[in-house]
Amino acid sequence: MGSGIAQVAAQAGFPTVVREMSNALCQRAHAAVQGSLAKAVEKGKLTPGERDLTLGRLSFVTDVAALGGCDLVIEAVVEDLAVKNAFWREVDATAAPGTIFASNTSSLSIAAMAVSTSRPDRFVGLHFFNPVPAMQLVEVVRTVTTSDATHGAARAFVLRLGKQPIDARDTPGFVVNLLLVPFLLDAIRAVERGVASVRDIDTGMSLGAGHPMGPLALCDYVGLDTLQRVAEVMYGEFREQRYAPPPLLRRMVISGMMGRKNGRGFYLYAGETPVPNTILG
Ligand code: 3HC
Repeated sequence: MGSGIAQVAAQAGFPTVVREMSNALCQRAHAAVQGSLAKAVEKGKLTPGERDLTLGRLSFVTDVAALGGCDLVIEAVVEDLAVKNAFWREVDATAAPGTIFASNTSSLSIAAMAVSTSRPDRFVGLHFFNPVPAMQLVEVVRTVTTSDATHGAARAFVLRLGKQPIDARDTPGFVVNLLLVPFLLDAIRAVERGVASVRDIDTGMSLGAGHPMGPLALCDYVGLDTLQRVAEVMYGEFREQRYAPPPLLRRMVISGMMGRKNGRGFYLYAGETPVPNTILG
């Protein structure tokens, strides 16, 4: 998601620094933004001049110290509190005192990150949705330590991106995942119970409920490992069965089926168009 967030920030006119863990990951992120902007130019949504200006506002670095001059740092690392807090401690040591920190977490506690830094008042959640350039919503998550000024600056930033902010409290899953995750898990339970085929469950919800993609295609799109992690966090907090990762999801993740990102999930993505993964029955 990081490259999508960087793209929309640069498109909105912000000089944007992308920090990755290695040069190879920097190149991958750069290529992802270039590919996405190329598609936008192809579709006539962006001029070649705007594309070049956008790319000119982006820099890709591996040294965390390069974030020192930023007004806002948005973190989109793996959904693991220890990993996120290790990153925040590192940035906190070099960032200017006024810099606002924002996490793109899907489900973790904003407060638990805020208190690991020296600036819990300047910490907020900014939860984007995939694909970031296409999805209009950003959840602005205020925790108990977030100041009015930080909340206001975060909302203003989202509006500058041309996106729609909604305010959410710092509770597991915020608004969208609170409702979306149980729905996705229920679709997996429907596969487990043999209610219908993968394709028919998806067709059912696409054509019967007007969803842009079926829930199992969406599970693959989000990433099965990410979905499992988010469900585990929500189950850990609420202890409600509806958030418990279904056994089939666990087995798919253990077997290396991560969804679209590695080509194997409820669908197989090797060919031109995805085909249902028949091994699931
Ligand atoms: N980057 C940029 N733009 C993209 C894009 C991408 N990767 N993929 C699609 N788009 C844009 C297209 O350019 C197009 O824009 P246009 O209408 O202005 O021309 C628009 O999105 C529609 O795309 P397509 O016509 O190519 O394809 P679809 O109509 O099938 O839409 C989709 C693709 C936008 C992905 C749509 O299927 C969709 O909305 N799916 C649901 C996505 C969703 O629910 N996301 C949230 C996931 S949950 C999450 O992220 C939270 C996390 O915490 C788990």
